[in-house]
Amino acid sequence: MTMAFTLATEAEDEAREIGRLLFAGPVDFVKGVVSMSALPPADRPEVCFAGRSNVGKSSLINALTNRKNLARSSNTPGRTQEINYFTMGESRFLVDLPGYGYAEAPVAIVAKWQALLKQFLQGRATLRRAFVLVDTRHGVKAVDEEIMSLLDRAAVTFQVVMTKADKVSKAVRDENIAQTMAALQKHPAAYPELVVTSSEKGEGIETLRAIIATLE
Ligand code: GTP
Ligand code: MG
Repeated sequence: MTMAFTLATEAEDEAREIGRLLFAGPVDFVKGVVSMSALPPADRPEVCFAGRSNVGKSSLINALTNRKNLARSSNTPGRTQEINYFTMGESRFLVDLPGYGYAEAPVAIVAKWQALLKQFLQGRATLRRAFVLVDTRHGVKAVDEEIMSLLDRAAVTFQVVMTKADKVSKAVRDENIAQTMAALQKHPAAYPELVVTSSEKGEGIETLRAIIATLE
């Protein structure tokens, strides 16, 4: 059976307003975590942002929250080296994760982040949805497939967010969206809707806010 993957359409007015209100409220950095035992109490729903190094996770959190430097973004891959927790009022955690697939950092360090990332993705009871970011310029790579398979095994629903849409032509965009949808066919934990975004230009940001704000 093939699943029908679609692109998220613009959120309805009501959902958009709920999203706007949630993200306009207070957002605070809670802590950076390097071990599972240091995670904040699992006392509210949370969503996380996973993806290859440099795909735009931290930038997306900044765009969603409309804050320039809440999550540190950088040109240098491997910028985010901890699991960074942000709270939106008391109602939700947003979690910025270290990237995967980054070859330049010392092997021991990479191995440590990756182990933590995997433990986190498999073991956090209050994780409602993992957003897996895919660069619109590149589509799904082998390392993305690995993380998606891990999420399948852990039965954590994940939703793909295409990033940096401002950087590609319409042709490349369409091609890599199609490639991504085809790759997702193999992943039972994939949510059947993709969101195309640009943190730079704002495309898809309101839609993603509405999705996060209306998650049960
Ligand atoms: P790590 O923490 O190293 O895993 O990276 P990350 O996934 O958090 O990426 P980050 O947000 O730091 O962004 C990486 C680079 O991509 C930065 O130079 C950003 O300015 C740039 N970038 C992120 N999102 C966009 C986007 O939507 N459009 C454009 N043009 N550039 C972007
Ligand atoms: Mg980052």
